Amino acid sequence: MDTIKTEERVTVLAQFRKDILAGLQAEPKFMQAKYFYDQAGDLLFQQIMKMDEYYLTNAEMEIFVKQSGDIANLIARESSSFDLIELGAGDATKSIHLLTELCNRDLEFSYFPIDISAQMVAHLEDFLPRQLPGLSIKGLNGDYFEMLDKGIALSNRRKVVLFMGGNIGNMDVEEAKEFCRKLNNSLSKGDLLIIGFDLKKEPKQILAAYNDAKGITAAFNLNLLSRINRELDGDFELQNFEHYACYDPESGACKSYLISLKAQAVHIAGETIHFAPFEAIYMEISQKYSLQEIEAIAVATGFHGKHRFFDAQKYFVDAVWLVD
Ligand SMILES: C[S@@+](CC[C@H](N)C(=O)[O-])C[C@H]1O[C@@H](n2cnc3c(N)ncnc32)[C@H](O)[C@@H]1O
Repeated sequence: MDTIKTEERVTVLAQFRKDILAGLQAEPKFMQAKYFYDQAGDLLFQQIMKMDEYYLTNAEMEIFVKQSGDIANLIARESSSFDLIELGAGDATKSIHLLTELCNRDLEFSYFPIDISAQMVAHLEDFLPRQLPGLSIKGLNGDYFEMLDKGIALSNRRKVVLFMGGNIGNMDVEEAKEFCRKLNNSLSKGDLLIIGFDLKKEPKQILAAYNDAKGITAAFNLNLLSRINRELDGDFELQNFEHYACYDPESGACKSYLISLKAQAVHIAGETIHFAPFEAIYMEISQKYSLQEIEAIAVATGFHGKHRFFDAQKYFVDAVWLVD
């Protein structure tokens, strides 16, 4: 058992090394957002979710607190048993409202939270059964599609996939389409996808959510450099990099960068990476959508569905899509 765990850790670390070096040797430089979530990254993200400027959490929380009954009605409309698979479940603070509603209805279902963060999956497996006695839960630690395939293979029940928190926002529009297409291919006719999108709104409000006054988002981005230093024997000097966020209201892309404040060389896993003064590392996209753009993605990727759940301010939407 321990040997398997050690082998898994070695594979995960080798992939991390490969992806980080590929991103930093590319032109322009980039990093993959999924690597933000080590133990410190999980904690920083929990702080981000509580920030005044980060309207996304409150908006989607309101949807799940007030409308989980209606969402559960849609899931339960088909009377058969099902598996609820959540992609990038995090700490499930919002989905717990839907889980509570489903448990109260005595429906036959299992919950499979998927997350790349082993700590989050372990936390959910410990915490949720204490909150919701009788909940059938199996956590799946790993990347979205690898774990989705595992989760789907666990039973032949119909599937309800939850993909919330604007996780799809961490992809650009083409990547989001490709992701939905892949999801559609993995699912079967009649399966459901409940998917959250952050909506286009006042540009200054969007930018503030990724450029908070206390610098928590900056710390979240810089934490990935600390992770590289620790896990890949790197020597990033964090004070030589600055977080920069910008929002383009036309495309809806809000992008975060780390800017090298001077010419410098950084050593990572035995390789040397050179930075020019003010060279940027592209860290993350948070894509915002109009309702028409969301509808176009559904149609283009083999889904349909007219049910949409909004918060009172219409900042955020959770759409319920059926596999065609
Ligand atoms: C933005 S948080 C959102 C969490 C939760 N869905 C919510 O709405 O509060 C993203 C979560 O997805 C997980 N994640 C990011 N990329 C992932 C990937 N490629 N595969 C699996 N999980 C991933 C992270 O570990 C993190 O817990």
